Amino acid sequence: MSPKAEIEIVRSVADLRARVRAWKSAGLTVGMVPTMGALHEGHLSLVRLAKTRADRVLASVFVNPTQFGPNEDFDAYPRDEGRDAELLAGAGCDLMFAPTVAEMYPPGASTTVTVAGVSEPLDGQARPGHFAGVATVVSKLLNQGQPDVAVFGEKDYQQLQVIKRLVADLDLPVEVLGAPTARAEDGLALSSRNAYLSDAERAQAPALGRALKAAAAALKGGARVDAVEAEALAAIQAAGFSSIDYFEVRGASDLSRLGPGPIVGEARILTAARLGKTRLIDNMGV
Ligand code: PAF
Repeated sequence: MSPKAEIEIVRSVADLRARVRAWKSAGLTVGMVPTMGALHEGHLSLVRLAKTRADRVLASVFVNPTQFGPNEDFDAYPRDEGRDAELLAGAGCDLMFAPTVAEMYPPGASTTVTVAGVSEPLDGQARPGHFAGVATVVSKLLNQGQPDVAVFGEKDYQQLQVIKRLVADLDLPVEVLGAPTARAEDGLALSSRNAYLSDAERAQAPALGRALKAAAAALKGGARVDAVEAEALAAIQAAGFSSIDYFEVRGASDLSRLGPGPIVGEARILTAARLGKTRLIDNMGV
């Protein structure tokens, strides 16, 4: 039996900076994959993509309290640092940054980063304050890790656009890469929150991906946005989702509203819906 791969874990910003400084002074490039842990194949695909673009890869594992609303699942969010470390090591990640909340937000921390426009619709409406929390922690993580390349999943498509916007607006010297959504065989987008689903809900969940696929095909065929959205909403409801926050066709980079007629140019269909207590999000390009 071959020995299990191990990964070095650092918990302070000072230690992280020292490790990254050593890599950079040896002429190595650095890739970063920010995560909230509870890792799955989707996260590991981000690490693998980062490895194709940088000599060393670091992943952060930090469940960021500022991006959860007061009635959301911050306390319940799955945490298993040992398993995360093993998975990252197995994927060839070189360093794990796992700071405490106090390290990331020491007493007195009072700066929030907000991104206007792209963070306002969709999850910006459904989860007030969420993207300010994301933008703030990602700004901090990118400053702390100083990577050349940072990889984020397209699964959180709106988040990816918010991060691209903030990196451009703040002149952060990092290339942001989006990686395609990893899916289960039945099409369900991989997510740490899938762990909340009961067996029955897990069987219903792929309806979201199916509705996106059908909508993308219809839009490609020239269907009207309003008709496609209405049909998808009906299909998701019929599949047993208890509430739907949105199913909308938007511009691919600025997330502006498209329709009501057929689309012209690149679009993204985004949806968020609840199965019981679990909120699932997914999206697809057209
Ligand atoms: O996508 C996530 O896991 C988080 O939103 C991120 C980007 C790590 C910020 O906490």
